[in-house]
Amino acid sequence: MEKMVIEGGYPLNGRVRVNGAKNAALPIMAACLLLKGTSTLKGIPELTDVKTLCKILNELGVDTKRFPDGQLQITVKDERNITAPYDLVRTMRASICVLGPLLGKRGMAKVSIPGGCSIGSRPIDIHLKGIKSLGAKVDMEDGYVIATGKKLKGSDVYLGGPYGSTVLGTCNIMMAAVLAEGRTIIENAACEPEVQDLANFLNKAGANISAIGDNNIIVDGVDELYGVEYEIIPDRIEAGTLMIAGAITGGNIILENDASCYLASVIDKLREAGVDIKVPDADQSTSGLARDGECIVKSDGNIKSVNITTLPYPGMPTDMQAQFTALLSMANGTSVITERVFPHRFMHVAELNRMGANIRNDDAIAIIKGVSSLSGTTVMASDLRASASLIVAGLAAKGITEIRRLYHIDRGYERLEDRLINLGAKIWREKE
Ligand code: EPU
Repeated sequence: MEKMVIEGGYPLNGRVRVNGAKNAALPIMAACLLLKGTSTLKGIPELTDVKTLCKILNELGVDTKRFPDGQLQITVKDERNITAPYDLVRTMRASICVLGPLLGKRGMAKVSIPGGCSIGSRPIDIHLKGIKSLGAKVDMEDGYVIATGKKLKGSDVYLGGPYGSTVLGTCNIMMAAVLAEGRTIIENAACEPEVQDLANFLNKAGANISAIGDNNIIVDGVDELYGVEYEIIPDRIEAGTLMIAGAITGGNIILENDASCYLASVIDKLREAGVDIKVPDADQSTSGLARDGECIVKSDGNIKSVNITTLPYPGMPTDMQAQFTALLSMANGTSVITERVFPHRFMHVAELNRMGANIRNDDAIAIIKGVSSLSGTTVMASDLRASASLIVAGLAAKGITEIRRLYHIDRGYERLEDRLINLGAKIWREKE
């Protein structure tokens, strides 16, 4: 196993390119199960989660071919297998996104039920309710969900849950409905940019999805979908993480392949915290979705306290909560963070406190009393975004921070340390 070692205290300066979005790449790769012919996906990041999904697709009779420039070619060769096995699903909860397309195209899906993880219990009840609304029969057997429905029928599908809608649940229902008979209206759908990207991809492949980005998505079933070329959107969470890394170190960084058009809530709070952020003009956009310009993040390292509540899009992303917790641990004053998407997603708090932060976590709330400095020590990463928050904290801490259980970071950030080194960070990997 490897650990990440950081010598903190160096401001980040320079340019860094934002990679394609993991959470758009995964459902779009799964959607290729619905298509005839070959799809070429551009901007697919080199991540463990992408490799895991490739393995699942390979099990399901799909050829995947990776190119060094970030392209991934996907071709369905054999549609007989319908099982996503436990050994692969257990390593990545997002594997559940093969459920909808397998059911929609092959009439049957057997997918291992993903377990909980360190960010919470993560049930799939709303996904299952959704596919039942389309006429599928759902059984649970030996830890697998088995869904059958030779010809699904469009219907009204309500996806609200105790914490709002569900991102992958919306993706699954959309993918199950594109080849169904008639019209499906997904009510209380997730509006996240990654869900919109999936809908745009499916439309390019021949689907008929409208009201994309709305709470009520309309899917009119079509007979067939075909392979296409498609470039996925930039990763707003990676961009936000880099912004915070710049801010906490008192740096000056320029983000290329900018994702700021999806980050209004994050930018608003960073500005309130005293970070200077210049986003590209809206009229610089050529892609229609992301703005292709550059985003400039400048900070003098003096961070003001702010209060944050995570919410579904366009609210503050839960995937930025841990990084904000690290930033605000060094703010002037007291900040309150309320987690409204995954109420127990606070495993990073104890580790940040080991670095000298003063954070009290009570249920879904963290109260952060800013301290003037953090100090490096050995900490444990518990999940992807928790690892990111510990790296961000380590970049600003005095002395050496060692982050164990590093494999989490490689699930969601491609070669993060190389890119931070280019910005002037002192960061490297060592064998544990
Ligand atoms: N929920 C239910 N029942 C369901 C589904 C969800 O109660 O059937 C609850 C969840 O427990 C949670 C809330 O609804 O409290 C929202 O969960 P959601 O289903 O939206 O999460 P997800 O689709 O499983 C995706 C991202 C997560 C991100 C969340 C929220 C991917 C691959 N994953 O997960 O990303 O935190 O949406 O925005 O898209 C990450 O990248 O680090 C990550 C965890």
